[in-house]
Amino acid sequence: MPVQQNNQVDVKSWKLAPHVEALKASIIREILKISSQPGVINFAGGLPAPELFPLEDMKLATADAIDKYGAACVQYSLSAGIPILRELIAKRATERGEATSMGNILLTSGAQQGIELMGRIFLAPGDYVLVENPTYLGALQAFNFYQARYATVEMDDEGMIIDQLEAQIKKYHPKLIYTVSNFQNPTGITMTKERRVALIEIAGKYGIPIVDDNPYGDIRFSGEPVPTLKSIGGDAVIVLRTFSKVMAPGIRLGWMNGPVPMLAQVEKVRQCADLHPNALVQHMVYEYVAAGKLEPHIEIIKDNYRNKRDVMMETMRNEFPEEIKSPVPDGGMFLWCELPAHVSAKDLLPKAVELKVAYVYGEPFYPNGGGENTFRLNFSNAQPDAIVEGITRLGKLFKKHI
Ligand SMILES: Cc1ncc(COP(=O)(O)O)c(C=O)c1O
Repeated sequence: MPVQQNNQVDVKSWKLAPHVEALKASIIREILKISSQPGVINFAGGLPAPELFPLEDMKLATADAIDKYGAACVQYSLSAGIPILRELIAKRATERGEATSMGNILLTSGAQQGIELMGRIFLAPGDYVLVENPTYLGALQAFNFYQARYATVEMDDEGMIIDQLEAQIKKYHPKLIYTVSNFQNPTGITMTKERRVALIEIAGKYGIPIVDDNPYGDIRFSGEPVPTLKSIGGDAVIVLRTFSKVMAPGIRLGWMNGPVPMLAQVEKVRQCADLHPNALVQHMVYEYVAAGKLEPHIEIIKDNYRNKRDVMMETMRNEFPEEIKSPVPDGGMFLWCELPAHVSAKDLLPKAVELKVAYVYGEPFYPNGGGENTFRLNFSNAQPDAIVEGITRLGKLFKKHI
């Protein structure tokens, strides 16, 4: 007999943990709900280009993995991830100037899990995290769960303004410094080499770990490469990386590159979360990367995103009022815009949605408030003709309200 649902239970009266009650729903998810209405040109999300997902090669790599590894592909597996893939990732990092061995690599369910694990490892309620202002909303949500507070450092075209860093450290004693040093989400800005060196020096002086969340580092499509924080700072830096932006985000596979003793702690903590990352996906990704498929695929992504960025910026130049400022991103997936100080991007969003185009307003990316006149545009997901149309519509709106 089927079990009867008991509709008398008032689930809403259940007492959740206070730190869960305090969590707010992601504003981006709310905006995405509005912007995913049919016909809306959506610059609000952060989705990679679906037409580029390497589906055929992933199919082959999955078949290869099952043929080669059999039951091991789907058996319980090691918490740090499968050694063959950790080894391959370490080799790739070393080739890029980050001296890395397999012991430095722990596979995660995307960079987001890496951020969450950093919160678990470092934060007690009320602890401060030092972040760029603005910063990645998903990191704020992960750290909010641990009841973090935020010390912020403003940004300019060269990344975190390092002159503000030491005073903030002295005032707030942050437990960790969280940065998105390459093609930052939301601003698209990349930290200069000089700032990286200074950041490592100051963090080292106060013994504070640097977490470099680097999902976009491989997607540089213009400008000169900058040495990674890891290549400059070695063990002072914990790097979070991902296959989300270079293969596909739904596979949920990323990795952490950090000092061996710290990863031992992370491994223990991750066992409570999910035991280990998806074993079939790890084997599939190993086969894909080992077959030499990743690097040429990254080139395809770069060409596609460069073109989309150019189309978006060119249309902005033609259609947006010139008061709107926007730094040129050399990689990644986002363009950041600043309206004149008195114009609220949040207030204009419903009007944009009426015109069937959506963006994310900037406020939620500022952990301590501010940024009312800013907004983020994603250029990786829409097709070029939709980009032209969407930006033209936004241009009309801004011309009317500035
Ligand atoms: C800065 C940053 N970190 C982490 C993530 C999450 O990436 P993943 O899909 O690897 O969890 C994103 C995704 O948008 C991001 O922009």
